[in-house]
Amino acid sequence: MDKIRIIGGKRLSGTIPVSGAKNAALTLIPCALLTDEPLTLRNLPRLADIDGFQHLMTQFGVSVNIAGGRPEDFGRVVTYEATRLTSTVAPYDLVRKMRASVLVLGPMLARAGEATVSMPGGCAIGNRPIDLHLKALEAFGAEIELAQGYVKARAPDGGLPGGDYDFPVVSVGATENALMAAVLANGTSRLNNAAREPEIVDLCNLLVAMGAQIEGIGTSDLTIHGVKRLHGATYRVMPDRIEAGSYACAAAITGGQVRLDGAKADDMLSTIHALRNIGIEVETDATGIDVAANGPLKAVNLSTAPFPGLATDMQAQLMALLCRAEGTSVLTETIFENRYMHVPELARMGADIDVQSRTAIVKGVPSMTGAQVMATDLRASMSLVIAGLAAEGETQVKRLYHLDRGYERLEEKLALLGAEVERIGDE
Ligand code: UD1
Repeated sequence: MDKIRIIGGKRLSGTIPVSGAKNAALTLIPCALLTDEPLTLRNLPRLADIDGFQHLMTQFGVSVNIAGGRPEDFGRVVTYEATRLTSTVAPYDLVRKMRASVLVLGPMLARAGEATVSMPGGCAIGNRPIDLHLKALEAFGAEIELAQGYVKARAPDGGLPGGDYDFPVVSVGATENALMAAVLANGTSRLNNAAREPEIVDLCNLLVAMGAQIEGIGTSDLTIHGVKRLHGATYRVMPDRIEAGSYACAAAITGGQVRLDGAKADDMLSTIHALRNIGIEVETDATGIDVAANGPLKAVNLSTAPFPGLATDMQAQLMALLCRAEGTSVLTETIFENRYMHVPELARMGADIDVQSRTAIVKGVPSMTGAQVMATDLRASMSLVIAGLAAEGETQVKRLYHLDRGYERLEEKLALLGAEVERIGDE
């Protein structure tokens, strides 16, 4: 298993390109199941999760063509063509490795009238049930059966009628599955208290480009008028707001100055707001974001929330930054019940953090020291990299595969900014 070695203390400066958004890509790819025409996605990040999802698509008989592109380029262009589906089953082994596989349920059901998807089970950051995905599909007229660890969903003869569903809690994945099912329903569907994360807007924009009729895009109340068929499209994946925010934290903790080329400020206003309160200068324009840390970091109180609130996917990285702020910060995680796994590892590097249930009290320390650390999820791993960039001496973050799931060529991007980083194979 590869690991990343960081020698802390280098001030980051320069420009890095922001990649296509992983979480958007993972809901745009299954849209290929909704049409027999080709769907071409541009700016797809080169990530392990995307490769995994593509593998899943081939299991259904979808052809996947990756266009040339130079190896040194970030992102790539991929065409998916689901002329004929040869299977409607997402097997346990693939779903277990990647929870987002559950996002084939809605589009598969809409196109084929049936879908069998392994239940994803829990994961490192929490229990993560899929009950809301299933309830929304039931509200559209699907019959759902749970057996041998699989969800079997079936539409009535003639297709899903469509219907209304009020989400009791905001769920990104359930909103995505419901949207992808409703676009081909026979009637009109309404989703209330839907997620309105920028990745949902990206999904809606692609669906509209394919011929879907959706009202209320960008709001929490969506009305979807089902259409008989969707056609192919060519679509560019939105920039990754979490990747951009992560590099902003990386630059800030080193007292650095970085341009995040291609970042879209409107998608990450809560993160920008938090960074400014911490004392970071953030300038935004139409083509990117400039981040500069010139003075001491200030303690703040932060709470995660559904969009437009602060993304839970930024919590760990901001916590790493706040470990070095002057004063005591209070972070509250409201989305996932077990998202503080980076805390004991940050403590091994000298951080002073006390977790009480969903709240973490972070007392800023003047310095941290490098250590061998390991994390169990993607964003937690990134928080350790961020801490390592400013720690004294050498940090080794093990289990690099977590980072490869969500950060396109992390060590190359950090090296572009002058960080001393190296990927090393495990002995
Ligand atoms: C997506 C993102 C993930 C992000 C999360 C919250 C992808 C691939 N992943 O995950 O990076 O951290 O949104 O912004 O886009 N819940 C239920 N029942 C359900 C579904 C969800 O109780 O059927 C709960 C979850 O346990 C969690 C909360 O709702 O507590 C929000 O989860 P959700 O928005 O669904 O997250 P994901 O779509 O899994």
